[in-house]
Amino acid sequence: MYEALEVARDGLGPVFALGFGRFRPIVVASPEALREALVERRGAFFWRPEGDPVARLFRRSILVTDGEEHDHARGVMLPAFEPAKLRGQAAALLAIVEDELGRWPRDGRVEVVEAMRRIAWRGFERVFFGYDLGEAELRQTLPGLLAALRYIGPGMWVLRGRAGPPPRGVAPLENHVRRVAARRAGRGGEGEVLLDLLARVFDEERVRDHALTMLIAGHDTSTAQLSWALHLLARDRGWLARATREARSVAASDLAGARPEDLPVIDAVLKETLRLWPPIHVGGRRAGPGAAIAGYELPEGRRVMLSYFLVQRDGAIWRRAREFDPGRWLGGGSPPVPYSYLPFGGGPRNCIGAQFASLEGRLVLARVLQEFDIAATRRPLRGAMGATLEPRGGRLRVRRR
Ligand code: HEM
Repeated sequence: MYEALEVARDGLGPVFALGFGRFRPIVVASPEALREALVERRGAFFWRPEGDPVARLFRRSILVTDGEEHDHARGVMLPAFEPAKLRGQAAALLAIVEDELGRWPRDGRVEVVEAMRRIAWRGFERVFFGYDLGEAELRQTLPGLLAALRYIGPGMWVLRGRAGPPPRGVAPLENHVRRVAARRAGRGGEGEVLLDLLARVFDEERVRDHALTMLIAGHDTSTAQLSWALHLLARDRGWLARATREARSVAASDLAGARPEDLPVIDAVLKETLRLWPPIHVGGRRAGPGAAIAGYELPEGRRVMLSYFLVQRDGAIWRRAREFDPGRWLGGGSPPVPYSYLPFGGGPRNCIGAQFASLEGRLVLARVLQEFDIAATRRPLRGAMGATLEPRGGRLRVRRR
């Protein structure tokens, strides 16, 4: 699909229409047009995709509402994402990484997406739910989590134009979220976490909507980011050697306090990973009344896809656009033009968890490289568009030092 999109863009220009059955989106892939949609004319586009699986599963959460309803929810959640608050959680996050790496073989193979999902999921729950997800509960809940991810990913509903209700298989996940929220009830003060902020303002059903949304949005993206970063590094000896040297030059006990500038190569690897394989590769919108983009008027209700993927790989914007080259970010390197690098979206509704994701990325990559020598296996690797754009296929060979 993403290769087809590149061909379409090359033939049709940066704003074009697709048509498969009832799926007839306008794809937007130039920095100028993305700026229009994300900033200047953002009021003309809606986030809520009525009838899509995300709206059916997440009901009325931050991700699938607009206007005041959305802005209120975002305002309630923001304190949980303050940089100082997140830095304070780094040690707890590292303890989870430690525990998970302890399960890896001394010398063997690792299914990267599975391994990273465990870290991202447990890390998310620790930091934002204040909850230690134990092994038995993780195993019990995993099928529900995977069912939810399958349900919201692309499927036949795209052609039909409307999804059926969430499948029953999602129930273990929903029950888990409700249980964790109920256990947390009445907590707060010193160790206040996202779930406490939600519970103070919203009723039980809305807490369910937001908490479920944040759990999916906050761990599946990180899973993809971490998995791609390890796969790309394992396939590039030069950058693997540089990143490994850097990670091993910092004591494990100092990692919790490490800032991006203390680990510049690892930070650049993460940025370049998100350029080539942005986990959220499109921003989905609906045209509102009077919406227009790049001079085209859009009929109300028309689906719009803001393609962060296409613009981040555009050879007319980026030098050696398809190459994995973290060097482009070193020494203060920045995107060649504004709105050409949007792995966390842009404008006032950009990703609320971007700083947490980069903190987590640094800690996990550094710890893996400190503990293990890694290499790619021969299994071919490809990108797959599920709920996020994630790697499929390849495994990692690991050997503990
Ligand atoms: C590498 C990891 C991540 C990536 C690549 C990512 C990417 C994105 C992108 C591209 C958007 C904007 C989508 C659009 O324009 O339609 C977004 C929004 C959002 N992200 Fe993330 N994200 C990541 C991690 C997280 C985390 C850790 C959390 C929560 C803990 C989170 C929560 C959200 C929420 C709630 C929104 C919607 C914000 C709003 O509507 O106001 N994300 N993310």
